[in-house]
Amino acid sequence: MSDHSISMTINGRRQTGTVEARTSLGDFLRMDAGYTGVHLGCEHGVCGACTVVVDGRAVRSCLVLAVQADGSEVTTVEGLADPEGTLHPVQQAMRDSHGLQCGFCTPGVVMTFAALTAEDCKPTEDELIAAMSGHICRCTGYQGIRKAAKILVEGGAA
Ligand code: FES
Ligand code: FES
Repeated sequence: MSDHSISMTINGRRQTGTVEARTSLGDFLRMDAGYTGVHLGCEHGVCGACTVVVDGRAVRSCLVLAVQADGSEVTTVEGLADPEGTLHPVQQAMRDSHGLQCGFCTPGVVMTFAALTAEDCKPTEDELIAAMSGHICRCTGYQGIRKAAKILVEGGAA
């Protein structure tokens, strides 16, 4: 089996590695780069827990091969808060709305909201809630997550 040398920027830091062609981006982020905030649940594109941002777009890292992300800018949940520890607006909204319980789904939810509310994007509350159709949460009943979406829109972060 042939290995491939890859290089990408993860949370602002360059990361290189050697992977098999079949290695998923999620496995690379967790096992090679150590970003264990990337949660792998179903590993076939259903639960959304593994969502990260690649070149500005939220993607399921279990469905992307690490070699496909070669040369990309990747952000995981570890890269959202600023270096002093101030939470990203999405993290703060989730905290304020009690949008998590066990937290397994949370990094994926946060990364989807972060991608949709980045920079000049102005999603509606309905658009944020619709994006949650790609995330399974076993704990919250989604009400706190819906409230976080409302906070993001009304608070001007979105
Ligand atoms: S682990 Fe990727 S969608 Fe579930
Ligand atoms: S908070 Fe437990 S799965 Fe969502």
